[in-house]
Amino acid sequence: MASGSGSNFEALVQACRGGHLHAEVALLVVNNPGCGAQARAERLGVPWQLHDHRTQPSREQLDQALVKAFRGAAVDVVVMAGWMRVVTPTLIGAFAERLVNIHPSLLPSFRGLDAVGQALAAGVTLTGCTAHLVCEEVDAGRILVQAAVPVLSDDDHASLSARIQRQEHRILPLAVALTAQQLGEPG
Ligand code: GAR
Repeated sequence: MASGSGSNFEALVQACRGGHLHAEVALLVVNNPGCGAQARAERLGVPWQLHDHRTQPSREQLDQALVKAFRGAAVDVVVMAGWMRVVTPTLIGAFAERLVNIHPSLLPSFRGLDAVGQALAAGVTLTGCTAHLVCEEVDAGRILVQAAVPVLSDDDHASLSARIQRQEHRILPLAVALTAQQLGEPG
């Protein structure tokens, strides 16, 4: 699931194709027509679908359509790779323990929108990224993998975001592998 540039989506595809993640990205879902993620899916030959929230009467109905799409593609793990919408129990319940989000801060610091801007405004010297399972409370599910990123004195939003994203691309495949492994474990 992606809303924007899709660099995390591409990192997952490349991790699979490079043999670092024993998985296949079966389907990309985007909510913004023509977004970068969609262009990457076309270039990489990954099936994609547009589920535009603007055409759905409610969050629940959007999520119902997503659940149907993922079941249709027989997916085991769903990844919110820059999905800039709040999801509902409809999606969370359908993929309990196998819905992963990537967030650009060291949670539990800087939940919600513009975590990079929040970190800059707070003046922290260390931030990072977190891959975690999704629960109903936003950015509060069980942490899977984190990476720390220093904030440099001359950082602006773009430079810090780029440094964080390099770490996201590294930890997100690890988090997917961990999720799949935990699903396979009894009890
Ligand atoms: C990523 O940095 C991700 O952490 C962030 O959106 C970016 C998407 O980049 N997600 C959130 O802020 C969710 N609250 P990408 O489209 O290049 O993968």
